[in-house]
Amino acid sequence: DWIMKDHIEEAVAKIREQVGDEEVILGLSGGVDSSVAAALIHRAIGDQLTCVFVDHGLLRLNEGDMVMDMFEGKLHAKVIRVDASDLFLGKLAGVSDPEAKRKIIGGEFVTVFKQEAAKLKAGGNGVKGATFLAQGTIYPDVIESGGAKSKKAVTIKSHHNVGGLPEQLGLKLLEPLRDLFKDEVRELGVALGLPPEMVYRHPFPGPGLGVRILGEVKKEYADLLRRADDIFIQELRNFRDEATGKTWYDLTSQAFTVFLPVKSVGVMGDGRTYDYVVALRAVQTSDFMTADWAELPYALLKKVSSRIINEVRGINRVTYDVSSKPPATIEWE
Ligand code: XMP
Repeated sequence: DWIMKDHIEEAVAKIREQVGDEEVILGLSGGVDSSVAAALIHRAIGDQLTCVFVDHGLLRLNEGDMVMDMFEGKLHAKVIRVDASDLFLGKLAGVSDPEAKRKIIGGEFVTVFKQEAAKLKAGGNGVKGATFLAQGTIYPDVIESGGAKSKKAVTIKSHHNVGGLPEQLGLKLLEPLRDLFKDEVRELGVALGLPPEMVYRHPFPGPGLGVRILGEVKKEYADLLRRADDIFIQELRNFRDEATGKTWYDLTSQAFTVFLPVKSVGVMGDGRTYDYVVALRAVQTSDFMTADWAELPYALLKKVSSRIINEVRGINRVTYDVSSKPPATIEWE
């Protein structure tokens, strides 16, 4: 649409003017905001942008490859993928407290990103050093950091916002989405050629599967959870509600699978199994402060349950979480 085209042209001109012939670094997470920021900045300055994608090993099935296919493969943007999964899993070994896990994941994330950014800032070998750090800050983030957040007296869960990074790195800040609301960011993303499935995805927490594996995080658990969660998401996208014609993915605000590190007994063929349990979580909410568990059709739950148990060896029981927020939270940790 024309208005969006004008908006893109204006934003592109503004970025070109601000950046000139300098180099820009952007932390790409695969989330909506950083993806749209990357696509927009790439449209404006092409190879003057280098994206840094830190893969902490707690992403969903094939998510890292999908980010690379999109940005490197389709958009031809420069992307440095840092596979830090062993590092993160090492730091998380033996840690089971949810907040301690969040602090480790958030802290390591910043450390790894800073190392990469410092290299790009230094330049060398004929490569010019970077002077800008781009962030996918959107308007609600701007308001939140302006004090509205202090209304909430108790921090129930610490989110890992990467605050103060540009100052610490000695880089200038580039925030092309600062004036936009989430819906506008999504529209912009689609207009820039990002796939709608990516732009209209449910939110995914920074610590990723780290807070969806209860207690200690282990690679074995993450691998099982990734496969189970992928089945749940596939079926949410497959099943449509007859009344609205919408998929259950679109009818829910957030849906995911949680790994429970407990074993229960099952039977398969003429053998007994003793395997792990997962919980499916799906909620409907407008602000994520309160949420109702979603009344998913039994046929969908049935399909997901039988697929997970038959396809993911190591999981023999699937449960559905019927807790609303409050008093439960959306995530289990
Ligand atoms: P809760 O579980 O508190 O979640 O009801 C509310 C929303 O926040 C997300 N969430 C997080 N996002 N880092 C994030 O970036 C976190 O540590 C974190 N914890 C929860 C959650 O997915 C939901 O959308």
